[in-house]
Amino acid sequence: MSNYHIKSFEEYFQVYRKSIENPKVFWEEIAEEHFTWRKKWHNVLSWDFTKPEVKWFEGAQLNITENCLDRHLSTRGDKTAILFEPNDPNASAEHISYKQLHERVCKFANVLKSKGIQKGDRVCIYLPMIPELAVSVLACARIGAVHSVVFAGFSATALSTRINDCDAKMVITSDGSYRGAKTIDLKGIVDDALEDCPGVDTVLVAKRIESDINMKTGRDYWLQPLLDDAYGDCVIEIMDAEDPLFILYTSGSTGMPKGMLHTTAGYMVYSAYTFKNVFDYRENDVYWCTADIGWITGHSYIVYGPLANGATTVMYEGVPSYPDFGRFWEIVEKHKVNQFYTAPTAIRALAKHGTELVEKHDLSSLKVLGTVGEPINEEAWHWYNENIGKKKSPIVDTWWQTETGGIMITPIPFSTPTKPTYATLPFIGIQPALMDENGKELSNNQVDGRLCIKYPWPSMARTIWGNHQRYKDTYFSAFENMYFTGDGALRDEVGYYRITGRVDDVIIVSGHNLGTAPIEDAINEHQAVAESAIVGFPHDVKGNALYGYVTLKGSGEGRDHDNLRKEINQLITDRIGPIAKLDKIQFTNGLPKTRSGKIMRRILRKIACNEGEQLGDISTLLNPEVVQDIKDNVV
Ligand code: WTA
Repeated sequence: MSNYHIKSFEEYFQVYRKSIENPKVFWEEIAEEHFTWRKKWHNVLSWDFTKPEVKWFEGAQLNITENCLDRHLSTRGDKTAILFEPNDPNASAEHISYKQLHERVCKFANVLKSKGIQKGDRVCIYLPMIPELAVSVLACARIGAVHSVVFAGFSATALSTRINDCDAKMVITSDGSYRGAKTIDLKGIVDDALEDCPGVDTVLVAKRIESDINMKTGRDYWLQPLLDDAYGDCVIEIMDAEDPLFILYTSGSTGMPKGMLHTTAGYMVYSAYTFKNVFDYRENDVYWCTADIGWITGHSYIVYGPLANGATTVMYEGVPSYPDFGRFWEIVEKHKVNQFYTAPTAIRALAKHGTELVEKHDLSSLKVLGTVGEPINEEAWHWYNENIGKKKSPIVDTWWQTETGGIMITPIPFSTPTKPTYATLPFIGIQPALMDENGKELSNNQVDGRLCIKYPWPSMARTIWGNHQRYKDTYFSAFENMYFTGDGALRDEVGYYRITGRVDDVIIVSGHNLGTAPIEDAINEHQAVAESAIVGFPHDVKGNALYGYVTLKGSGEGRDHDNLRKEINQLITDRIGPIAKLDKIQFTNGLPKTRSGKIMRRILRKIACNEGEQLGDISTLLNPEVVQDIKDNVV
């Protein structure tokens, strides 16, 4: 028997050692004992980071939904699979059992088929956090269609870019969504996006807010009548281990968002195995991850990981602040949540409102607390530990990425001693490395460097959809024979890792990755703007906020700056979404540049962070004179 469930620090080290001394044997045992296969693999792993090419469980056949649904029916048929908590605190929660979820997924899969979706086709899902989101994801996987979920906070332009990049034939959406007391016209956004998407021939529309929307004849269909007519069973499509499962877009430092492609078998094995161990999930636990399924955290740790373990996973439709900042704790009490997984930005926002709203609720069900998405600061860590965990629930600070598919560096609860702000140790099978600027691996402790991974793990993304060269350039070119994460990290005296943040032009705002280039492109579309540069600066709730330096065309004189600021933020909202709006905008006479014309973001970052006195030597700049002017006019 392999050790599926790690129970002590000693056992962690034992299993870890085994997993890196003989990775193929290790993962083969895990895969064999804990999943349902239609055909076994002939090769556990083949890999070559120079191409790069990675294949896990080659030759195997399976369907991930058989593992997430069918195999639980005999033992857990009536157990709640998804516990849906609606936006409205007075509406009742919905308990969807494994049997019911199976039937809903089958019906949905049959609807997809009836609309011409076949294995390998891409389906874009643009839905709020309602059960149809999880159901449609699983329905795609059941018939071998590749889902690409786009977070429903993205704008029409961002949506159409993603639809066209992966050439989706169908969009699944809803008439609208709730966001606290507001409603959002999702279908209107889809209609706008589809003006530029000739490849989409079908739109399925779930009813959520009962709003009056336009339905385009021959293209748009209400979902419910189709589901009502659909047959409640659907045989699985038999998938090869390396068949695509989904595409999920993430921001890069430059250009188009990157469509990270995840494949079937390795992703399933790793998301399930990490879920079980990182959250110490036990059979009757109620687990809640507050992320949106539009992000990787929701894919791996609301849908696939929990369901592959037969878990009960909570799906919450709303925001942390509705009807007040006590909502999360009310939900924890109401559903007796045992594992709670959220982002540092949410913790900071909640902490800001004091402990009164926490104390009103019984949080004694909580066993494990998790955090993800950005570095957690010391203050937030202690607040979480003291007020939510009452110093008895370990905090798992989990570091990972859209690209990694699953958690990579994390404590194992009740095994790894935690340390505030440290993600601690690599998960089983993960071989991190810190590299210096010259590409040399730093082998000692008490060092900081660029974080890389030396050896493949089952759930790593296999490529960027339609652009393998970019995949190679972004992740496998900075350091020889290594996957480069884009993050910096330090390793303390006992080997614990602390992630220090991005070392590229990606800025994490409220846990959302934002590339500077697309935001600058949006600003530069304004007819008054000559050029712009975006940097991050520390923000007490969002972690980072965005600071924009904007140079206007001509003298810029006589311009109403406040109005321009509004117009610029509106452009950003239209092109990307409200998450990318700038907190501060400074109008400048020019931007500091190198002699080759590259904008010196390092200088702009320091000024935005109030470190303008420590700029170092700027005399080699093309235009050093603009720096003083920028310093004098910070906003
Ligand atoms: C950052 C989210 C510090 C990091 C799963 C990474 C973190 C990026 C942590 C990926 C953490 C994520 N501590 N930083 N525990 N978790 N990050 O693709 O910079 O949305 O590269 O995946 O978030 O964000 P993504």
